[in-house]
Amino acid sequence: MSRGKAASALDLPRPDSLDAGKQQGAYDALRAAILNRQLPADSRLPSTRSLAQRWLVSRGTLEAAFDRLHSEGYVQRLAGSGTRVCAVIPEQFIAAPVASAAPRREAVPDQPDAGVQSHVPFVARRPDASLFDLKSWARCISRGLQAVGPGVLEAAHSAGLPELRAEIADYLRSFRGMQCEADEVIVTSGIRHALDLIARTVLKPGDTACVEDPGYPPARRLFALAGANIHGVAVTAEGLDTVQLPDTARLAYVTPAHQAPLGMTLTVSRRLALLDWAARADAWVVEDDYDSEYNYNSAPLAALKSLDSGDRVIYCGSFNKNLFPGLRVGFMVVPKVLRRPLLRTLQLTGHSVGATDQLGLMEFLRSGAFVRHLRASRQAYQTRRDALLACLPRATVVSGQQAGLHCVLWLPPGVAEDDFCTRAAAVGLTLQPLGRFCTHVRLPAAVILGYTALTLAQIRYHGRVLAQLLIAA
Ligand SMILES: Cc1ncc(COP(=O)(O)O)c(C=O)c1O
Repeated sequence: MSRGKAASALDLPRPDSLDAGKQQGAYDALRAAILNRQLPADSRLPSTRSLAQRWLVSRGTLEAAFDRLHSEGYVQRLAGSGTRVCAVIPEQFIAAPVASAAPRREAVPDQPDAGVQSHVPFVARRPDASLFDLKSWARCISRGLQAVGPGVLEAAHSAGLPELRAEIADYLRSFRGMQCEADEVIVTSGIRHALDLIARTVLKPGDTACVEDPGYPPARRLFALAGANIHGVAVTAEGLDTVQLPDTARLAYVTPAHQAPLGMTLTVSRRLALLDWAARADAWVVEDDYDSEYNYNSAPLAALKSLDSGDRVIYCGSFNKNLFPGLRVGFMVVPKVLRRPLLRTLQLTGHSVGATDQLGLMEFLRSGAFVRHLRASRQAYQTRRDALLACLPRATVVSGQQAGLHCVLWLPPGVAEDDFCTRAAAVGLTLQPLGRFCTHVRLPAAVILGYTALTLAQIRYHGRVLAQLLIAA
């Protein structure tokens, strides 16, 4: 007789779960019998032969189910003494004992971040994730995972997977005019991650960091968190006013392709002046290239980094705007002397992008799906932009509409930004006042209009509402 209470095949009636799938059903029924102690610790399982006869399945099916129970630690298979239930089942190693029977606390409902939802008219700088081909993305993740062995998943690549960095460098050479190689690229979770790494690595408390005024508020805040003194530099029609840059500054942050938020492009002469300043002041230039893929009237200028013969520009790019905001993958192209220090900070924070997303993106770039998506989304955004502009009254002044995901609407003389935004909110429009982006400069009243994450029908409907507000202002 066996050591424990031997369950016989008769104790285990044919389970209904077998009808859904034989191997899985047999595994589920045997595991359930072990967990509810119908098959207690150390008891012998019926032989696969007797169980096969009773359950009307093949022995092969049961062998596979027994093997799985064995590999997961539920049973032992010993030559000559059959299959026995293990003394300690795996659940006891995996799950901590429940501390008390206290009822679970009521969950706090998740609140989306205010003002950043897509499909809210006219929330700015949001892409339309519904243009993104999820099936193609799923195929890329699957192909990417199949193309690599477990070695890639185990190895620590703090700069990002070399294959992805090579694809990014290739893209930047072809589309942003940059002569860059994979070893200059560092994968991040986006531009803000890159700015945070730069702030922690390059800035010391008391250093001066120059930012555009008006400018992108998170850049200002991230540099301030690192203890830097923030020096706002005015922006003119040609972009950042480089003559105002102090020689004592440690870095200057710019958005040369489409100034955030005003939307002008930094002229070539200003770009050269900025690089001269960086060489003279021994300072870094941080180039934020957040929406340069979208140009509606002419070909884009090459990135500022393409002119950087002195290796002083830290280039920051992102896939979170041109693919979808929840992706959280971006990258930096960094000067040689900053590579090691930046990687040390990155390693320390442990904040890197998961291998699965990196592999999926690598395939997405390699297969041409990325460039196809850029072409289609650019076309859709241009149509939406044109539809929005067509709604506005004739005398309306708009700027920055030649590129990017937003434009600036200058309000009629005498109309205050906050008043206008309050009136707009009352009729369902979310507008960002330009003043929110300004630190010291005072500019005429204006609001930021996003159009890319709205359908054409939404744009036409809400565009008419906006036009009525402007006429009544
Ligand atoms: C100028 C600018 N830079 C960077 C970002 C954020 O990029 P990411 O989501 O990759 O951090 C934004 C987002 O709106 C932006 O407007």
